[in-house]
Amino acid sequence: MIHCSAPGKVYLFGEHAVVYGEPAIACAIDKRVFTSIRLKEGSNIRVTSMNKRLNCNNQEFRYVCAAAKKIKDLCETDFGAEIAIKSQLPPSQGLGSSAAVTVSTLMALSESLGMGLKDYEIAKIGHEVELYVQGTASQADTLVTSIGGVVLIAGIETLKINFLSMPIVIGATGITRSTSDVIKMVATLKTRYPKIVGSIISSIGEVTRQGKSKLIEGDITGIGELMDINQGLLESLRVSTLELNNLIYGARRAGAFGAKITGAGGGGCMFAIAQGAHIGKVAREIKLRGGRPIKASFSDIGVAVD
Ligand code: MEV
Repeated sequence: MIHCSAPGKVYLFGEHAVVYGEPAIACAIDKRVFTSIRLKEGSNIRVTSMNKRLNCNNQEFRYVCAAAKKIKDLCETDFGAEIAIKSQLPPSQGLGSSAAVTVSTLMALSESLGMGLKDYEIAKIGHEVELYVQGTASQADTLVTSIGGVVLIAGIETLKINFLSMPIVIGATGITRSTSDVIKMVATLKTRYPKIVGSIISSIGEVTRQGKSKLIEGDITGIGELMDINQGLLESLRVSTLELNNLIYGARRAGAFGAKITGAGGGGCMFAIAQGAHIGKVAREIKLRGGRPIKASFSDIGVAVD
């Protein structure tokens, strides 16, 4: 039996603007998806997760099944497998759970079959799997979950920057949304107000560039300020919601350095950076306001054999 895992992620700066070629910074977190695989005779892939046990011939567990198919195609071998998935990430909440499950499954299959794929190769194949399942996907989620740490994404260029170990509190609204619908909504707004929305998007890009410097300097106050500015700009793109804003303002009131949404918005999660006693206060405030608090921290560990 082979056991692998891969982390979720948050966008520190730059979501949505990254769709228009601006840079973004995403960070792996210490909440992970775990995949265990036992190869078996035949060609049937059976997946166990969330109290369900199903063969790969239905619409469930699409990322795991697409990852298995991709590996079968790549190594031109058929195989059967029992795959078990456990996750510390709420699904469809903007924390990169589908990328993490894809990447941990690819790594576990690669290890089981002796393919020896490395993190950057896994990231590339993982991105292809996400494109196959979703139609569109940026490379951010699969890259960050593969290599871990703090990653700057600028067009096709990617760069791992200084790792800063920072506690965060995530607030999940529990509201699911379609990323592609939210992206389309921003695109429509941009068509109606090209100059205004164009300058908001460039400003988010500038926030990311200055955020990179703050990360390198380890300036947590500056990072928090820029997160709040980024949130204001995302708010003007109409991707935040009453529920998200309620958690964000609660976190700020409880002493967070900064708070913003992570990912597409329209639902999903926000997160805050905080230190010391403020961590518990932020978590309590999120709970009080109807969110699910998840205490986490940035993590430098990408996909791993456990
Ligand atoms: C979604 O998690 C983040 C977006 O920037 C889209 C993307 O980067 O693929 C909205």
